[in-house]
Amino acid sequence: MEYGKAWLNYRRIEEKSFCKYLTGIYSQVEDDKINSGIKELNIAFEGMYGIKIPFSRWETDSGIQLKISSDLSKEEYYIHPNGNVFLIEGGSSTGILYGIFQLLRMLMEETPAKDIAVRKAPDNPLRMLNHWDNMDGSIERGYAGESFFFQKNKVMVNERTRDYARLVASVGINGVVINNVNVKQEATRLITKEHLKELKKMEEIFAAFGIRLFLSLNFAAPMELGGMATADPLSPEVKVWWKEKLKEVYEHLPRLGGFLIKADSEGRPGPFTYNRTHADGANMLAEIIKPYNGIIIWRCFVYNCKQDWRDKKTDRARSGYDHFKPLDGAFLENVILQIKNGPMDFQVREPVSPLFGGMSATNQMIEFQIAQEYTGQQRHVCYLLPSFKEILDFRTYCQEERDTVADIVSGKTFSRSNCGMAAVANTGNDLNWTGHDLAAANFYGFGRLSFDMSLSSEKIAKEWIVQTFGSIEKIVKNISQILLNSWETYEKYTSPLGIGWMVNPGHHYGPNVDGYEYDRWGTYHRADHKGLGVDRSSAGTGYSTQYHEYNARLYESKENCPEELLLFFHYVEYSYRLKSKKTLIQHIYDTHFEGVDEVETMLELFEEVKGDMDTDVYNRIAARLKEQLLHSKEWRDIVCSYFYRKSAVPDEKNREIY
Ligand code: GCU
Repeated sequence: MEYGKAWLNYRRIEEKSFCKYLTGIYSQVEDDKINSGIKELNIAFEGMYGIKIPFSRWETDSGIQLKISSDLSKEEYYIHPNGNVFLIEGGSSTGILYGIFQLLRMLMEETPAKDIAVRKAPDNPLRMLNHWDNMDGSIERGYAGESFFFQKNKVMVNERTRDYARLVASVGINGVVINNVNVKQEATRLITKEHLKELKKMEEIFAAFGIRLFLSLNFAAPMELGGMATADPLSPEVKVWWKEKLKEVYEHLPRLGGFLIKADSEGRPGPFTYNRTHADGANMLAEIIKPYNGIIIWRCFVYNCKQDWRDKKTDRARSGYDHFKPLDGAFLENVILQIKNGPMDFQVREPVSPLFGGMSATNQMIEFQIAQEYTGQQRHVCYLLPSFKEILDFRTYCQEERDTVADIVSGKTFSRSNCGMAAVANTGNDLNWTGHDLAAANFYGFGRLSFDMSLSSEKIAKEWIVQTFGSIEKIVKNISQILLNSWETYEKYTSPLGIGWMVNPGHHYGPNVDGYEYDRWGTYHRADHKGLGVDRSSAGTGYSTQYHEYNARLYESKENCPEELLLFFHYVEYSYRLKSKKTLIQHIYDTHFEGVDEVETMLELFEEVKGDMDTDVYNRIAARLKEQLLHSKEWRDIVCSYFYRKSAVPDEKNREIY
């Protein structure tokens, strides 16, 4: 069986007004990206209209023309009709390629030719995917099969690499890290000659789609690869080692974008071992790769993962800010700090990391996770775009205007150009790329949003549905409804009001309220017979004071705290009345029952489209939704019984709670 085409599924369409331009394609420039674009146009037109169009060497007064325009910025495009010609202009061939994908998207949505006139430059300079693929073929937090980049400790380059690049470029991604941030074993050797040859082929395929290849690095490589006694970033010998090593890497991969580094986190080596700062570590590498236009992306996911339960002052949520805020301004221009959207770890709901807006003199990039580690692992539907939108729209109050997370990561707030959005990827070698067919909406959606932050979750969902399944009204309506409510539904039947973490330790699937509570990897909810939640106000861990004043004040008190984050910031008694006038305990019961009812509704909505979509796809999705229903009931029952027994407060509605 062949793997699927995901959303690049150019089915026959009814709207044919564009066909008048299908007399020929002329391009002012010829290079690998233009070739990719022209190939794509051909595949698409054949699929949509059954027409093959000739490539013309000469400019004529009809057909499609691809042109470079000096009025446009590099990755910008402008697509529009001009008499008998349809123009696809770009600031460079990458811009033209994006214009081609935009045109095809609109044609698949059956937009009449006369209505197609779009000019757009990407909102974020860097739009990246981080794959957590290991060289043995496994994927850390991978829920869609094995890696298509590596198998048996070898780099793999084949037709799927190209199809992956097509998918990624079609939504505007321009950087891809192919290996896991936890760089161990063979992956440490990825920067040796043995693998660089294959990587070169991959780099070339990516480049033909405007994508830069990045690699994750092992900070201790001078020891593990170079046999040195230290990896101290300030040691002259270590610097020389890195300089030679990275010179060799760039000789093989001249277009390599740079490196992603996880240091001093969850057992990974880093500068702390040598009493050096993260700026020392990042700058040492950044200086070396500056002549190659390389970038060091340094992760801020640094925390003490062995917090003692008696210690109520240490707070994992604080640690990113505590570690990095004092270093604001100390990083070189080609270093970017990559910050997870929240201070913890991709929970279904968290506050926004206070590092956004907390630092003003450092390049920053946001890290989302579309691999649904804590949000149903691609067995449950959880369309994350509404959550991403909320986060990007969050006002940090770091200044009076242009202070949202979107403004900061796109570079507007502090006039920066090394910044953007990254996401931990959700793909694997499953035939449908993402395990759950509906999880592809997150893959598609993250890319689209990183390119154009003004797009709504609704618009993105609709685009994806139409391209993937076609434009039958019922499909668009029902699947939109399923996707758009799914994040809140998932939140309802899992952990309440921002507390997070009630999952099985290790693999993180399924409910286990105390899973982390009595674990050495303590991540606490502090539930007892009176209430639950973590006091992160100034009287507690003080985390709330890491925000600028307006937000700090909101989070400081139970009364002002946005309710969806109440338990993240406060210990709250079960009898506490929420704005709905419900007690906390009743809210927990009610939302968990509602969550399950909503999954039932999803299943009904989905059953209505049976017959309107490919049977195999229908059956795959239906099976996952049934599993989701079963597992949402498990969540409901375990969470409700846990809090019933802790609080001894019965459900007002007398439902069955064990
Ligand atoms: C989470 C995840 C790990 C991952 C880590 C990271 O903790 O569970 O598998 O390595 O995040 O982002 O580095």
